Amino acid sequence: MDIKNFVERIKETNLFTAYNTNVDAIKYLKGEDVQKLVDEFNHKDIIKRMEEYPRIIEEPLDFVARLVYSIKTGKPAEVPIKDDKKLHEWFNKIKYDEERMGGQAGIVSNLMATLRLNKIIVYTPLLSKKQAEMFVDYDNLLYPLVENGNLVLKKVREAYREKDSIKINRIFEFKKGLKFKLNGEEITAKQSTRFIVASRPESLRIEVKDDVRRFLPDIGEMVDCAFLSGYQAIKEIYKDGKTAKYYFERAKEDIKLLKKNKNIKTHLEFASIPNVEIRKMVVDYILSSVESVGMDETEIANVLHILGYEELSNKILKDSFVEDVIEGAKILLNKFKNLEIVQIHTIYYILFVCRADNPLSNEELEECLEFSTILASTKAKLGNIKSIDDLYEGLKVPHNKYGDLLKGIVNKFNNDNYKIALSPSRYVEKPKSTVGLGDTISSGAFVYYVSLLKKKNEVRNN
Ligand code: GLC
Repeated sequence: MDIKNFVERIKETNLFTAYNTNVDAIKYLKGEDVQKLVDEFNHKDIIKRMEEYPRIIEEPLDFVARLVYSIKTGKPAEVPIKDDKKLHEWFNKIKYDEERMGGQAGIVSNLMATLRLNKIIVYTPLLSKKQAEMFVDYDNLLYPLVENGNLVLKKVREAYREKDSIKINRIFEFKKGLKFKLNGEEITAKQSTRFIVASRPESLRIEVKDDVRRFLPDIGEMVDCAFLSGYQAIKEIYKDGKTAKYYFERAKEDIKLLKKNKNIKTHLEFASIPNVEIRKMVVDYILSSVESVGMDETEIANVLHILGYEELSNKILKDSFVEDVIEGAKILLNKFKNLEIVQIHTIYYILFVCRADNPLSNEELEECLEFSTILASTKAKLGNIKSIDDLYEGLKVPHNKYGDLLKGIVNKFNNDNYKIALSPSRYVEKPKSTVGLGDTISSGAFVYYVSLLKKKNEVRNN
């Protein structure tokens, strides 16, 4: 199918997305950069700290240890940093190569605006001038505000608040094959991926502020679907005494409000959540409220672990077998009756697992995935998707060599109870950038899915 047809399919869809946007300061690491970095420390100390596996960065050694771990295992990670002036200064001394839009809501809304979706309403609690300028300059990209008691939608770039603080994450990208030495051992990056040092400013609260919140049912009515993420940034407790429970209860209610006047489809992008308590709450409050979820392999393994499927979880982490991932997705569909689509993306494939009664056919489900695969290869190859024409670059990248094998396995799982669709990735071995790839894949597949459903319903109602 031609790119134009793909884009045509989603054109009339309207999307709401929340909650997280930030600035990503990106450093593209080379072997010599990592060597210099590890040489600033005692190598044995780094190894010891890697074994301790710090879940929060309290000093530079924690960072170096987790970064080396990520490179060695080829696993992406996001670790929060303690809000400490000296530590921030240490990180600010590093020279970053570029600054760009970060955070699921920011990345997804920019992508969908570029793909010329009819209307995107994006909500993010902090919107400083600098943050607002990270949004692409299109008229279909809107921010909700309340003026004189009425809801108004303004172009995001014009809706900023001078006083809002700004959240900057530091992103360390590395390519497969990068090499350095640690304590005499040569370490080689197993995959191209990224390590994120996530800032957690106290003033950032993952919520829709009360003024706009009152209008969530109206916003829901204006759209067809909502892509939700950012819960990973919720802290267990804040200085004013507010707790994670408070924010999760609110967030669950937000979904109800959005669906109050119209039965829109909602998607949770799970994201990497280092804090296990917070991860549990995302499962309890949010996963139990949405129709669709997007995860990578590590994320589904983590969720299965929480649900008590330890063996399966460890197996997925260790072997990466698609059969095990499908098994895990079925468990989720059985546990959470609200879910209609479980979507998993890995470097080799993207997968939909749904119940057999899903209104879309296998071919239609595959079309959603094929579209998102093209988005992914475009982004991996070019670093960013700046126009619809860029997608032709992604289309040139062939599906990876395991494609037929993977499809063969998946077909065996299609039966009276489940519909399963897979699209092999168009694998770019040395991607220009990987941060935000998962969000690109998930939002592409979800928006396309909703667009096809919408068309089906229109045909049925006519
Ligand atoms: C998380 C990170 C953000 C990054 C995004 C990409 O939201 O906090 O920095 O841009 O993931 O997926």
